[in-house]
Amino acid sequence: MNNYFQGYNLNFSQSLFSSYMDWFHSFNCSLMFGVLIFVSLMLLYLMNNSYYFKSKKIEYQFGELMCSVFPTIILLIQMVPSLSLLYYYGLMNLDSQITVKVTGHQWYWSYEFGDVPGLEFDSYMKSLDSLEYGEPRLLEVDNRCVVPSNTNIRFCISSADVIHAWALSSLSVKLDAMSGVLSILSYNFPVIGVFYGQCSEICGANHSFMPIALEVTLFDSFKSWCLLMLE
Ligand code: CUA
Repeated sequence: MNNYFQGYNLNFSQSLFSSYMDWFHSFNCSLMFGVLIFVSLMLLYLMNNSYYFKSKKIEYQFGELMCSVFPTIILLIQMVPSLSLLYYYGLMNLDSQITVKVTGHQWYWSYEFGDVPGLEFDSYMKSLDSLEYGEPRLLEVDNRCVVPSNTNIRFCISSADVIHAWALSSLSVKLDAMSGVLSILSYNFPVIGVFYGQCSEICGANHSFMPIALEVTLFDSFKSWCLLMLE
């Protein structure tokens, strides 16, 4: 991830789901841009030709019909990818091999791996002076959440106090963490790497200082990490 040029796109997408999301975002932006250009040209033209409708003998009813037909067509065009994205997201929740419970606290995250008895830890932001070379400021944590790649992982997201949000932009993940509510998200990570995110719900003084660092590794490395954490 050394190419930071993103143009007008979303964050670097690192999964099938988020690439689709990225494509959908660009698609909507293009549609929006088209509508903007069309409406601006129309306005400019009408400003200069006050008698346009009269000279073309265009009736109000026809004009109104066009004003409802075109937006409807645009909405229909948007509906197809939007609904398929929604269904794809729903299908991801079918089965899971590993469950991770994510709890938001004021102001840190804690993770519990139900399948590995005793594996639970807190994840605090690293302070400036404990950062090592190459680690991003305000995003690196002391204990990363480590998960294996190519495995269906179910995240159960909840909160111990106020509302937080567990968000990882490059994976198109953003789910509110609410106390008493278990938000469930299943995910399969096709690539290995470290993904950073931040709490995305205003939760108090240190809202900006409870980042999320998710490390996706191979299954063997995940196993050795589990053993290391249990020591
Ligand atoms: Cu936790 Cu904002």
